[in-house]
Amino acid sequence: MGVLSTLLVPMGPFYEQLVKLGGPALCAIGFVAFVLLSVIINVLQQLLFKDPVKPPVVFHYFPFFGSTVMYGMDPYKFFSDCQEKYGEVFTFVMLGRNMTAALGPKGNDFVFNGKLSEVSAEDAYAHLTVPVFGEGVVYDVPNHVLMEQKKFMKFGLTTENFRSYVPLIVDQVEDYIKKSKFFKGAKGSVPLSEIIPELTIFTAARTLQGKEIRDALDGSFAKLYHHLDSGFTPMNFLFPWFPFPQNNRRDHAQRTMAQFYMDKIEKRRANEKHDDDQERSDMMWNLMNRSYKDGRKVPDKEVAHMMIALLMAGQHTSMATITWMLLHVAAQPKLVAQILAEQKRVFGDELAPLSYEKLVLECTFLGQIIRETLRMHPPLHSILRKVKSPMHVDGTNWVIPKGHYLLAAPGVSSMDQKYFKDPNSFNPSRWDGQKAEEETEKFDFGFGLISKGAASPYLPFGAGRHRCIGEQFANVQLMTIMATFVRNFDMQRPGGGSDVPAPDYSSMIALPTPPCTIEWVRRDP
Ligand code: HEM
Repeated sequence: MGVLSTLLVPMGPFYEQLVKLGGPALCAIGFVAFVLLSVIINVLQQLLFKDPVKPPVVFHYFPFFGSTVMYGMDPYKFFSDCQEKYGEVFTFVMLGRNMTAALGPKGNDFVFNGKLSEVSAEDAYAHLTVPVFGEGVVYDVPNHVLMEQKKFMKFGLTTENFRSYVPLIVDQVEDYIKKSKFFKGAKGSVPLSEIIPELTIFTAARTLQGKEIRDALDGSFAKLYHHLDSGFTPMNFLFPWFPFPQNNRRDHAQRTMAQFYMDKIEKRRANEKHDDDQERSDMMWNLMNRSYKDGRKVPDKEVAHMMIALLMAGQHTSMATITWMLLHVAAQPKLVAQILAEQKRVFGDELAPLSYEKLVLECTFLGQIIRETLRMHPPLHSILRKVKSPMHVDGTNWVIPKGHYLLAAPGVSSMDQKYFKDPNSFNPSRWDGQKAEEETEKFDFGFGLISKGAASPYLPFGAGRHRCIGEQFANVQLMTIMATFVRNFDMQRPGGGSDVPAPDYSSMIALPTPPCTIEWVRRDP
């Protein structure tokens, strides 16, 4: 007390003024002083006490907040600025978390092929996904169970099913175009941000989820889906403990949707002798009839939760990809003409109905459009793992401590001049003559053989034990939607512009900034 009063003596008049202003002013000044002091200590710590056995830390003024704003506004700009300053491996602070990014092909391999004893995806994602998917599936179970569940889901993604999906997707798109207010008359314009989310979910629901779920999307299920989706946001990821008002709606939607699926399962079981072949081979049927290695049958609740996980996993990623694809081809109408020419070459001038084999095996240019879209716009810009035991970074003295988050961003290498010439130009022909799947060593993590190597600059579907199982389905969905659009319409950006909207990073994935308008002219008015 004595020391304090000695210090305050020279501040006499200022101090008296403060006392007059009262408590709130003192609180405000105290707060500013606290912030200033913590900024000074934080800056000094970074300048004076660099830890040689840890990756460099991205310079930041404010402790706890660190680089949150820069990363959140434009993760790719943030990554490439940091890459230039610090190299491929660096740590940044995001809301109190230490995030260690590992960039480039080597970084991709480091994260995607991290050992189970070193990294955990469930520790990084569970707080976001468990309330949405439900318990007992995906990141709510040990990794070996997830591998079994991925195998079950993959069993439902057969070539035979894909074959039957193509006409179903065409029907959904044609029906949507017929009914939509945006496609009246011989020409018009359409905000993709309004139609593509619906088209994506309708096509995925009709195929992966079955007719009952697709039909329900015209009714109460649509609202439930939106409520569930509203719990799948960066805010839920960053502040899982915060009671956002939409969380109650999310939880109610999760329970009601799961019950909806369980009722359907019960009805199907009660009606075992039904003779609907398509139902008998669909995803729900497939999951209902699986057992874990320990002999336990997959409970109906887990079937329901896996169905929800499939719906959510594919929705945002496919929706983003279709929107970017349509924008890029509309920005270069010669690409629309090339896709149509390919359709005519493969299906004849009369454009015979689309079929799986011809579409996937012969429409190579359309395939390249998808690959180029995913090169420039991989929907997941940040792939995370939590570090469970210290990880040494090859070729350095650095050890990434337990508790850090590891972050891979394959979108950085796929937009790097080093690996792709003129990376900012949308050029599907750069993939001419390249096979979709490189011939590399294969490995089975428990859900079928996949390429083992992850040291590639292009990994939109990830790699390793958490690699996407939906790639082939996504391809069928994207190719069918795109081919149907091009068969129906010529397209361009408003006024024939060659621009494409900037990415918007405010949701979990990299979407183009709405409204994403394209102009269309009907081919056969
Ligand atoms: C995993 C991308 C479509 C289901 C992943 C991962 C990526 C990805 C990068 C790895 C995540 C990680 O390592 O943390 C994409 C893209 C898609 C797409 C770009 C479309 C263009 C789909 C679809 C489905 C699906 C349609 C379902 C039918 C899954 C599942 C996982 C996964 C189940 C496994 C998660 C894990 O093992 O941790 N996807 N995906 N994806 N994806 Fe996809």
